[in-house]
Amino acid sequence: MEIFVVPDAAAIGAVAAGIIAAVVRSKPDAVLGVATGGSPLPVYAALAGHRLDLSRVRAFALDEYVGLPAGHPESYGEVVRREVTERLGLDPGHVRVPAGGAEDPERAAVEYDTSIRAAGGIDLQLLGIGHNGHIAFNEPGSALDSRTRVETLAARTREANARYFGSLSEVPERCITQGLGTIMEARHLLLVVHGQDKAAILAEALSGPVSAECPASVLQRHPHVTVVADESAASQL
Ligand code: GLP
Repeated sequence: MEIFVVPDAAAIGAVAAGIIAAVVRSKPDAVLGVATGGSPLPVYAALAGHRLDLSRVRAFALDEYVGLPAGHPESYGEVVRREVTERLGLDPGHVRVPAGGAEDPERAAVEYDTSIRAAGGIDLQLLGIGHNGHIAFNEPGSALDSRTRVETLAARTREANARYFGSLSEVPERCITQGLGTIMEARHLLLVVHGQDKAAILAEALSGPVSAECPASVLQRHPHVTVVADESAASQL
């Protein structure tokens, strides 16, 4: 595992974007795994500055809420469209997000998992980490070999994400998330972490026991992980 400790969020964006840009330069039709949440936003901003030709890049999002109306501004489909597809100039036909509005979300989850494999797997997966150690929406207790599936969000995750919605009651209770086993199949995992409030969970994930109680701890078993953290987030490493 390689760990870069940098001064602030902008520097996280610059370093992580440089890593992604190198992947795309060496493989113009790379398959990228993209993440939502606040942590990756500086990465997309910095990547846009590279002015790469991303026309052949394909992208898969990590997760999506179940039950939001189509086009809801906080659905990850919309967030990815705004922050990733449009910002980076990706072909919208090359970008997939789990179908949280599907009539049968369980089936949509299985199909999504299959579509990642059919695309040849993910070359580089960008990740954030939740305060309880979740990655994507794999909450504590998720099996380390889990696949893409429908999950119930932890109360703490709904509270954290209420900032994007009008109130806590508007935050969906369920989601479709790539599983930990699915994420572990990506060839390179790039975790970006920022802020003092993530310091304890980052230390637990990287140096505590590998356990479903801290889903991000599964990263310790991956052969190619890069962590880019600011000094606050890295303060307990
Ligand atoms: C969200 C997402 C995750 C993200 C995490 C942390 O709920 N599903 O993919 O990594 O929470 O978000 P943030 O970066 O805003 O702290």
